[in-house]
Amino acid sequence: MLYNNTVKINDHVRYVGVNDRKTRKFENMWPLDHGIAYNSYVILDEKTALLDTVHLGYYTNFEEGFQHVMEGRKLDYLVIHHMEPDHSGIIPQIIADYPDITIVGNARTKEFLFNFYQIEPKNFLEVKEGDTLSLGTTELTFYMTPMVHWPESMVSYESHYKILFSQDAFGGFGALDGGIFDDELNFDLYEADTIRYYVNIIGKLSRQVARAIDKLAPLDIQMICPVHGPVWRHNVERILTLYQDLSNQKKQEGVVIVYGSMYGNTERMANYMGRCLAQAGVKNIITHDVSKTDMSYILKDLWIYNGAIFGSCAYNNGLFPPMDNLCRYLVGQKMTGMKVGLFGGFSWSGGGFSGLQSFVKEAGWELLDPSFEFKSSPKTEHFQQAEQLAEAMAKAIKL
Ligand code: FEO
Repeated sequence: MLYNNTVKINDHVRYVGVNDRKTRKFENMWPLDHGIAYNSYVILDEKTALLDTVHLGYYTNFEEGFQHVMEGRKLDYLVIHHMEPDHSGIIPQIIADYPDITIVGNARTKEFLFNFYQIEPKNFLEVKEGDTLSLGTTELTFYMTPMVHWPESMVSYESHYKILFSQDAFGGFGALDGGIFDDELNFDLYEADTIRYYVNIIGKLSRQVARAIDKLAPLDIQMICPVHGPVWRHNVERILTLYQDLSNQKKQEGVVIVYGSMYGNTERMANYMGRCLAQAGVKNIITHDVSKTDMSYILKDLWIYNGAIFGSCAYNNGLFPPMDNLCRYLVGQKMTGMKVGLFGGFSWSGGGFSGLQSFVKEAGWELLDPSFEFKSSPKTEHFQQAEQLAEAMAKAIKL
């Protein structure tokens, strides 16, 4: 056992990551209910290398473990797989501590280093697809994975131990509460946060994720060391399959009802819709009040299930603002394979229901009949339309 935040992975590789349970929202957007880990790794070979760093706020925690594993050795290389500040935050300190260090990155990494930190490294080793860096027994081969998660993102494969250092890919939300390796923890406790991380952070980049997975498929990967979430050494297949399914937008049968309601009339219809879906045989039904539930969770559920019903009141002649915000974001998510139903409420000039119609058209989703709109409160004919829509939805989502 080394310091509490350092773990021996093998004779040459150490884990030197940190946990962040203070930050409420990742990227100031996405709730961190169970915190997040910023993973970092050290290779101690004939040469030494630090693979990615951590968030600036965690320098002190990182430094303690890092100095402990280095045992006074000089740091030769800093490999930067990804420049987002949750991993690059302490690069200026590392360079200040080791002025002769060689920074390893690609051409875009160099640009980001300057733009974020005004750093023009004294020694910069620019790597391209397939380039290698020998550290002694261990050797890293670099693969470019642009847009997984940023343009400069790349991964490296260590051929002696067959480890993929995957940066954001194969990561998830959730601090590592003791277990570092997948066989030391119950991943069932992390799975929902891993899916939410995927959907929130890289979901809209799924084509690039799928391309990266295909590119890496020929490698014999015995271990995955991502920059968030557990280190995979026992059941590598589990995280590979999860990411594959998510990037291919493999859907489960179910319906997510999302509604926006000011005085409960649209909510009343949403509740009735849920009951109708259950009566039509749908088991997986999740209902969200768009004003209350953070978009992070709604996006996650919409990504997983193949059916959605949106209901919204009107507001200032337009779509209810919290629903409008969600819909705008959803268009950019490039979510496919959705069957969707709509309903809306208004009291004089409308705008909510027509706003939903425009959104579905823009998203390119399949709209089921009947869609319907009621004035101020739903009446008998609208409840009947809800029953018809639920029947149509139950048939349409059958897998
Ligand atoms: Fe964990 Fe895209 O940074």
